[in-house]
Amino acid sequence: MKILVTGGAGYIGSHTVTELIQEGFQPIIVDNLCNSSVKNLEGIRSVTDTIVQLYNVDCTNEIEFKEVFEKEKDIVGAIHFAAYKSVEESVREPEKYFQNNIGSLKVLLKLMEHFEVDYLIFSSSCTVYGTPDNLPVTEEAPFKKAESPYGETKQQCEEILQSVAIKSISLRYFNPIGSHSSGLIGDCSADKPANLIPIICEVAKGVREKLIVNGNDYNTIDGSCVRDYIHVVDLAKSHVAALKYLIKNPKKGVFNIGTGKGLSVLEAIQCFEKANKTNVNYEIGPRRDGDVEEIFSDNTKVEKLLDWKAQISLEQAMQDAWNWEIKK
Ligand code: NAD
Ligand code: WQD
Repeated sequence: MKILVTGGAGYIGSHTVTELIQEGFQPIIVDNLCNSSVKNLEGIRSVTDTIVQLYNVDCTNEIEFKEVFEKEKDIVGAIHFAAYKSVEESVREPEKYFQNNIGSLKVLLKLMEHFEVDYLIFSSSCTVYGTPDNLPVTEEAPFKKAESPYGETKQQCEEILQSVAIKSISLRYFNPIGSHSSGLIGDCSADKPANLIPIICEVAKGVREKLIVNGNDYNTIDGSCVRDYIHVVDLAKSHVAALKYLIKNPKKGVFNIGTGKGLSVLEAIQCFEKANKTNVNYEIGPRRDGDVEEIFSDNTKVEKLLDWKAQISLEQAMQDAWNWEIKK
């Protein structure tokens, strides 16, 4: 089964492409490499012994994107990763985010309708929940005012998906971390890391002097913020599970994709240090604007319906994150 994977050269996309191949699907990548590189494609080739077709096309370019559908006649479904993802940049340049993140989805939906491609898996985010009223957060929790234009694009994309005929599943990822155990596939983003675990890796490597912990006066276990960190390979596998489910149950759905366990920033540092037998230099700084105090996933729905569960331990995720950092 031929599956179109937009953003398939990116961090989560490349891991998903690997899992798709291992599960017998034929992924076709559409990625303009604006935030990745062919390094991940070489990694996919080494790990799976398969050369994946890449179309270096911008998904907002309808004419070029249409040519992909024309060439690859029998596409069964699509997984849409292509988007910009920097929360901080989205605050500075919101229009760029609305154009790319919403624009690419609209073009994809139009082409899917035209070429009668029925199934879509969409990369959403737990950011749609803002600060939830109840924990763990379930899929029924309402959308809160988005913390950023990036978050708003995810909310709007989910709303668009509810309004069209195409059957889709939105996967609301919690915090993806780690890399493929081979150390050959990972986050190839050119930007300076902005997420916690990549920053911890840079500090451990000596590229950065120290980590600033964004506040220790929250109402949490140790005062630092709590998140649900999920290994990217577990996350990748959830796409295959969602795709198989959607093909069997052609209707709309949303699922949380997390581990169900919260970890504080200070616990994450300790876990990294223990897993990698190294020290992370840190100091406590002020709170970060717009940070959610605590969020972690209720996995009841996904475990029941998709028959998927995160399997990889946090220690392993920290080791794999470090392995990518030292190899890259
Ligand atoms: P990434 O930047 O590594 O991957 C995105 C890929 O899409 C990149 O390879 C980029 O080159 C490509 N791309 C972007 N715009 C494009 C366009 N217009 N046309 C073609 N290709 C385009 O990011 P990621 O971390 O792999 O995230 C994948 C998806 O998951 C995104 O939609 C992101 O918003 C979502 N998500 C990510 C996280 C996270 O923490 N990484 C969490 C929740 C949701
Ligand atoms: C995790 C925790 C920080 C850096 C973001 C997006 C979200 C999703 C995932 C895409 C927070 C703390 C961090 C540092 C720190 N992406 N931290 N010092 O904010 O949960 O989510 O990425 O959808 O939409 O908002 O992830 O990794 O930035 O932060 O103390 O130098 O680590 O304050 O509590 P976040 P993160």
